Amino acid sequence: MKGIILAAGKGTRLYPITHSVCKPLLPVYDKPMVYYPLALMLEMGITDILIIVPPDEQQQFENLLGRGEHFGARISYIRQFERRGIADAFILGEAFIGGDGVCLALGDNIFFGKDLRERLMSARESTAGATVFGCYMADPRPFGVVEFDKDGNVISLEEKPEAPKSHYIVPGLYFYDSRVAGIAKQVRPSARGELEITSVNNAYLERGDLRVVPLDKEITWFDTGNSSALLDAACAIRDYKKQTGEEVGCLEETAYKNGLIDREKLMATAERLKMSDYGKHLMHFAEKCGK
Ligand code: G1P
Repeated sequence: MKGIILAAGKGTRLYPITHSVCKPLLPVYDKPMVYYPLALMLEMGITDILIIVPPDEQQQFENLLGRGEHFGARISYIRQFERRGIADAFILGEAFIGGDGVCLALGDNIFFGKDLRERLMSARESTAGATVFGCYMADPRPFGVVEFDKDGNVISLEEKPEAPKSHYIVPGLYFYDSRVAGIAKQVRPSARGELEITSVNNAYLERGDLRVVPLDKEITWFDTGNSSALLDAACAIRDYKKQTGEEVGCLEETAYKNGLIDREKLMATAERLKMSDYGKHLMHFAEKCGK
Protein backbone atom coordinates (compact mmCIF):
# COMPACT_ATOMS: atom_id res chain seq x y z
CA MET A 1 0.00 0.00 0.00
CA LYS A 2 1.16 3.54 -0.85
CA GLY A 3 0.79 6.60 1.36
CA ILE A 4 -0.08 10.17 0.46
CA ILE A 5 0.20 13.08 2.88
CA LEU A 6 -1.63 16.19 1.81
CA ALA A 7 0.52 18.96 3.23
CA ALA A 8 -0.23 21.70 0.73
CA GLY A 9 -2.62 23.72 2.90
CA LYS A 10 -1.55 27.32 3.26
CA GLY A 11 -3.30 27.67 6.60
CA THR A 12 -5.08 30.97 6.01
CA ARG A 13 -6.96 30.50 9.28
CA LEU A 14 -3.61 30.82 11.04
CA TYR A 15 -2.43 34.11 9.48
CA PRO A 16 -0.04 35.79 10.22
CA ILE A 17 1.74 32.64 11.50
CA THR A 18 1.48 30.97 8.11
CA HIS A 19 2.51 33.96 5.99
CA SER A 20 6.07 32.76 5.70
CA VAL A 21 5.78 29.08 6.58
CA CYS A 22 3.01 26.69 5.63
CA LYS A 23 0.87 25.01 8.25
CA PRO A 24 2.28 21.43 8.12
CA LEU A 25 5.73 22.76 9.05
CA LEU A 26 4.52 24.55 12.19
CA PRO A 27 5.46 23.03 15.54
CA VAL A 28 2.97 20.96 17.49
CA TYR A 29 4.60 20.54 20.90
CA ASP A 30 8.13 19.31 20.13
CA LYS A 31 8.05 18.46 16.44
CA PRO A 32 6.72 19.77 13.12
CA MET A 33 3.06 18.98 12.41
CA VAL A 34 3.85 16.81 9.37
CA TYR A 35 5.72 14.35 11.61
CA TYR A 36 2.43 13.11 13.03
CA PRO A 37 0.79 11.82 9.84
CA LEU A 38 4.17 10.58 8.71
CA ALA A 39 4.67 8.58 11.91
CA LEU A 40 1.18 7.09 11.45
CA MET A 41 2.21 5.83 8.02
CA LEU A 42 5.36 4.24 9.46
CA GLU A 43 3.31 2.71 12.26
CA MET A 44 1.28 0.93 9.59
CA GLY A 45 4.40 -0.15 7.72
CA ILE A 46 3.67 2.19 4.80
CA THR A 47 7.03 3.43 3.58
CA ASP A 48 6.44 4.53 0.00
CA ILE A 49 5.07 8.00 0.64
CA LEU A 50 4.18 10.97 -1.56
CA ILE A 51 3.97 14.34 0.16
CA ILE A 52 1.93 16.99 -1.62
CA VAL A 53 3.45 20.37 -0.80
CA PRO A 54 2.70 24.04 -1.56
CA PRO A 55 4.36 25.35 -4.75
CA ASP A 56 7.08 27.41 -3.04
CA GLU A 57 7.95 25.21 -0.10
CA GLN A 58 9.24 21.89 -1.37
CA GLN A 59 12.79 22.82 -0.38
CA GLN A 60 11.78 23.35 3.28
CA PHE A 61 10.15 19.91 3.37
CA GLU A 62 13.24 18.37 1.81
CA ASN A 63 15.47 20.12 4.35
CA LEU A 64 13.38 18.61 7.11
CA LEU A 65 12.68 15.11 5.83
CA GLY A 66 15.05 14.49 2.93
CA ARG A 67 14.04 11.38 1.04
CA GLY A 68 13.08 9.62 4.27
CA GLU A 69 16.21 7.48 4.59
CA HIS A 70 16.71 8.37 8.27
CA PHE A 71 13.42 6.75 9.17
CA GLY A 72 13.24 3.92 6.68
CA ALA A 73 10.85 5.52 4.21
CA ARG A 74 11.02 6.46 0.55
CA ILE A 75 9.60 9.94 0.22
CA SER A 76 8.77 11.78 -2.95
CA TYR A 77 7.23 15.21 -3.33
CA ILE A 78 4.78 16.82 -5.69
CA ARG A 79 3.65 20.43 -5.70
CA GLN A 80 0.03 21.48 -5.76
CA PHE A 81 -0.20 24.75 -7.68
CA GLU A 82 -3.90 25.30 -7.29
CA ARG A 83 -6.00 24.65 -4.22
CA ARG A 84 -8.53 22.27 -5.72
CA GLY A 85 -9.62 20.26 -2.68
CA ILE A 86 -8.59 17.08 -0.91
CA ALA A 87 -9.68 14.71 -3.68
CA ASP A 88 -7.15 16.40 -5.99
CA ALA A 89 -4.51 14.43 -4.05
CA PHE A 90 -5.51 11.30 -5.97
CA ILE A 91 -5.39 13.05 -9.33
CA LEU A 92 -1.95 14.48 -8.56
CA GLY A 93 -0.89 11.13 -7.16
CA GLU A 94 -2.37 8.92 -9.87
CA ALA A 95 0.94 7.71 -11.35
CA PHE A 96 2.36 7.23 -7.86
CA ILE A 97 -0.62 5.11 -6.74
CA GLY A 98 -0.47 2.95 -9.87
CA GLY A 99 -2.31 -0.30 -9.25
CA ASP A 100 -1.94 -0.22 -5.43
CA GLY A 101 -4.23 0.71 -2.60
CA VAL A 102 -3.52 4.02 -0.92
CA CYS A 103 -3.78 5.62 2.49
CA LEU A 104 -4.35 9.37 2.51
CA ALA A 105 -3.51 11.38 5.62
CA LEU A 106 -4.24 15.09 5.94
CA GLY A 107 -1.15 17.00 7.03
CA ASP A 108 -2.98 18.77 9.86
CA ASN A 109 -4.76 15.81 11.48
CA ILE A 110 -3.25 14.19 14.55
CA PHE A 111 -4.28 10.86 16.09
CA PHE A 112 -3.00 9.15 19.18
CA GLY A 113 -4.15 6.79 21.88
CA LYS A 114 -4.26 3.26 23.16
CA ASP A 115 -4.30 0.45 20.59
CA LEU A 116 -4.32 2.93 17.71
CA ARG A 117 -1.98 0.70 15.71
CA GLU A 118 -4.32 -2.30 15.92
CA ARG A 119 -7.26 -0.21 14.76
CA LEU A 120 -5.30 1.22 11.87
CA MET A 121 -3.91 -2.13 10.82
CA SER A 122 -7.33 -3.70 10.50
CA ALA A 123 -8.41 -0.80 8.25
CA ARG A 124 -5.23 -1.15 6.27
CA GLU A 125 -5.73 -4.84 5.73
CA SER A 126 -9.12 -4.58 4.07
CA THR A 127 -8.06 -4.18 0.45
CA ALA A 128 -11.28 -3.74 -1.50
CA GLY A 129 -13.30 -0.52 -1.43
CA ALA A 130 -12.77 2.34 0.99
CA THR A 131 -12.34 2.47 4.75
CA VAL A 132 -12.69 5.65 6.78
CA PHE A 133 -13.16 6.37 10.48
CA GLY A 134 -15.91 7.99 12.50
CA CYS A 135 -15.12 10.20 15.54
CA TYR A 136 -17.65 11.66 17.94
CA MET A 137 -17.71 15.48 17.98
CA ALA A 138 -19.99 17.69 20.04
CA ASP A 139 -20.17 20.15 17.12
CA PRO A 140 -19.72 18.22 13.87
CA ARG A 141 -20.70 21.07 11.52
CA PRO A 142 -17.20 22.04 10.28
CA PHE A 143 -16.46 18.49 9.10
CA GLY A 144 -17.58 15.62 6.89
CA VAL A 145 -20.45 14.01 8.82
CA VAL A 146 -21.62 10.41 8.59
CA GLU A 147 -25.14 9.21 9.28
CA PHE A 148 -25.77 5.63 10.48
CA ASP A 149 -29.02 3.67 10.66
CA LYS A 150 -29.95 1.84 13.86
CA ASP A 151 -27.94 -1.23 12.81
CA GLY A 152 -24.81 0.86 12.33
CA ASN A 153 -24.95 0.89 8.50
CA VAL A 154 -23.88 4.09 6.79
CA ILE A 155 -26.76 5.93 5.16
CA SER A 156 -25.23 9.22 4.10
CA LEU A 157 -22.17 11.45 4.20
CA GLU A 158 -22.36 15.22 4.10
CA GLU A 159 -19.62 17.85 3.98
CA LYS A 160 -20.01 20.64 6.55
CA PRO A 161 -23.78 20.30 6.93
CA GLU A 162 -25.72 23.07 8.66
CA ALA A 163 -28.00 20.48 10.25
CA PRO A 164 -25.80 17.42 10.86
CA LYS A 165 -27.58 14.07 10.97
CA SER A 166 -25.21 12.65 13.59
CA HIS A 167 -22.29 13.57 15.84
CA TYR A 168 -19.87 11.34 13.92
CA ILE A 169 -17.37 13.08 11.70
CA VAL A 170 -14.92 11.54 9.24
CA PRO A 171 -11.36 12.55 10.21
CA GLY A 172 -8.47 13.02 7.82
CA LEU A 173 -7.20 9.47 7.43
CA TYR A 174 -8.62 7.41 4.59
CA PHE A 175 -7.92 4.08 2.86
CA TYR A 176 -8.88 3.37 -0.74
CA ASP A 177 -8.34 0.74 -3.38
CA SER A 178 -6.65 1.56 -6.66
CA ARG A 179 -9.87 2.86 -8.25
CA VAL A 180 -9.69 6.07 -6.25
CA ALA A 181 -7.91 8.23 -8.86
CA GLY A 182 -10.54 7.36 -11.49
CA ILE A 183 -13.30 8.12 -8.99
CA ALA A 184 -11.71 11.44 -7.96
CA LYS A 185 -11.58 12.52 -11.60
CA GLN A 186 -15.34 12.19 -11.84
CA VAL A 187 -16.01 14.36 -8.81
CA ARG A 188 -17.51 17.78 -9.57
CA PRO A 189 -16.42 20.81 -7.51
CA SER A 190 -18.68 21.64 -4.56
CA ALA A 191 -20.29 25.01 -3.81
CA ARG A 192 -16.99 26.12 -2.22
CA GLY A 193 -15.22 25.18 -5.44
CA GLU A 194 -13.38 22.12 -4.10
CA LEU A 195 -13.16 18.46 -5.04
CA GLU A 196 -14.45 17.17 -1.73
CA ILE A 197 -13.18 13.99 -0.13
CA THR A 198 -16.76 13.47 1.01
CA SER A 199 -17.78 13.17 -2.67
CA VAL A 200 -15.20 10.40 -3.13
CA ASN A 201 -16.53 8.64 -0.04
CA ASN A 202 -20.10 9.02 -1.33
CA ALA A 203 -19.07 7.45 -4.64
CA TYR A 204 -17.77 4.40 -2.73
CA LEU A 205 -20.92 4.38 -0.59
CA GLU A 206 -23.10 4.29 -3.71
CA ARG A 207 -21.14 1.29 -4.94
CA GLY A 208 -21.68 -0.42 -1.57
CA ASP A 209 -17.93 -0.30 -0.98
CA LEU A 210 -17.53 2.08 1.95
CA ARG A 211 -16.70 0.96 5.47
CA VAL A 212 -16.81 3.41 8.39
CA VAL A 213 -14.98 2.27 11.52
CA PRO A 214 -16.04 4.19 14.64
CA LEU A 215 -13.11 5.26 16.80
CA ASP A 216 -13.87 5.13 20.51
CA LYS A 217 -12.91 7.66 23.16
CA GLU A 218 -9.53 5.96 23.78
CA ILE A 219 -8.38 7.59 20.56
CA THR A 220 -7.75 11.31 20.54
CA TRP A 221 -8.07 13.16 17.28
CA PHE A 222 -7.19 16.75 16.44
CA ASP A 223 -7.66 18.85 13.36
CA THR A 224 -5.13 21.60 14.00
CA GLY A 225 -6.68 24.09 11.59
CA ASN A 226 -6.93 27.06 13.93
CA SER A 227 -4.75 28.56 16.64
CA SER A 228 -6.78 27.25 19.54
CA ALA A 229 -6.81 23.66 18.21
CA LEU A 230 -3.08 23.94 17.56
CA LEU A 231 -2.42 24.83 21.17
CA ASP A 232 -4.86 22.19 22.48
CA ALA A 233 -3.13 19.52 20.39
CA ALA A 234 0.31 20.52 21.66
CA CYS A 235 -0.83 20.42 25.30
CA ALA A 236 -2.65 17.10 24.82
CA ILE A 237 0.44 15.48 23.30
CA ARG A 238 2.64 16.77 26.11
CA ASP A 239 0.17 15.51 28.74
CA TYR A 240 -0.27 12.14 27.03
CA LYS A 241 3.48 11.65 27.09
CA LYS A 242 3.65 12.65 30.76
CA GLN A 243 0.85 10.28 31.71
CA THR A 244 1.73 7.24 29.63
CA GLY A 245 5.41 7.67 28.84
CA GLU A 246 4.43 7.11 25.18
CA GLU A 247 5.85 9.37 22.52
CA VAL A 248 3.53 10.52 19.73
CA GLY A 249 4.83 11.24 16.23
CA CYS A 250 8.47 10.26 16.78
CA LEU A 251 9.59 9.10 13.32
CA GLU A 252 12.79 7.29 14.21
CA GLU A 253 11.36 5.50 17.25
CA THR A 254 8.35 4.35 15.22
CA ALA A 255 10.61 3.25 12.37
CA TYR A 256 12.83 1.26 14.71
CA LYS A 257 9.89 -0.41 16.48
CA ASN A 258 8.48 -1.46 13.12
CA GLY A 259 11.77 -2.85 11.87
CA LEU A 260 12.33 -0.13 9.27
CA ILE A 261 15.73 1.04 10.57
CA ASP A 262 18.48 -0.55 12.63
CA ARG A 263 19.87 0.69 15.92
CA GLU A 264 22.85 2.30 14.28
CA LYS A 265 20.64 4.58 12.19
CA LEU A 266 18.53 5.35 15.25
CA MET A 267 21.65 6.28 17.23
CA ALA A 268 22.93 8.50 14.42
CA THR A 269 19.77 10.65 14.48
CA ALA A 270 19.68 10.67 18.28
CA GLU A 271 23.27 11.93 18.31
CA ARG A 272 22.49 14.64 15.74
CA LEU A 273 19.47 15.90 17.72
CA LYS A 274 20.61 15.31 21.27
CA MET A 275 20.46 19.00 22.25
CA SER A 276 16.63 19.00 21.99
CA ASP A 277 13.98 17.20 24.03
CA TYR A 278 13.11 15.19 20.92
CA GLY A 279 16.73 14.11 20.55
CA LYS A 280 17.07 13.34 24.26
CA HIS A 281 14.03 11.11 24.06
CA LEU A 282 15.51 9.31 21.06
CA MET A 283 18.85 8.89 22.80
CA HIS A 284 17.16 7.44 25.86
CA PHE A 285 15.10 5.11 23.68
CA ALA A 286 18.15 4.01 21.66
CA GLU A 287 20.10 3.28 24.85
CA LYS A 288 17.21 1.21 26.20
CA CYS A 289 17.08 -0.78 22.97
CA GLY A 290 20.76 -1.59 23.27
CA LYS A 291 20.34 -3.28 26.65
C1 G1P B 1 -11.62 18.38 5.64
C2 G1P B 1 -12.65 17.47 5.00
C3 G1P B 1 -13.67 16.98 6.03
C4 G1P B 1 -12.93 16.32 7.20
C5 G1P B 1 -11.87 17.27 7.76
C6 G1P B 1 -11.01 16.57 8.81
O1 G1P B 1 -12.20 19.57 6.05
O2 G1P B 1 -13.29 18.18 3.94
O3 G1P B 1 -14.54 16.06 5.44
O4 G1P B 1 -13.86 15.96 8.20
O5 G1P B 1 -10.98 17.73 6.73
O6 G1P B 1 -10.06 17.44 9.34
P1 G1P B 1 -11.44 20.99 5.81
O7 G1P B 1 -10.09 20.84 6.39
O8 G1P B 1 -11.41 21.20 4.34
O9 G1P B 1 -12.27 22.00 6.53
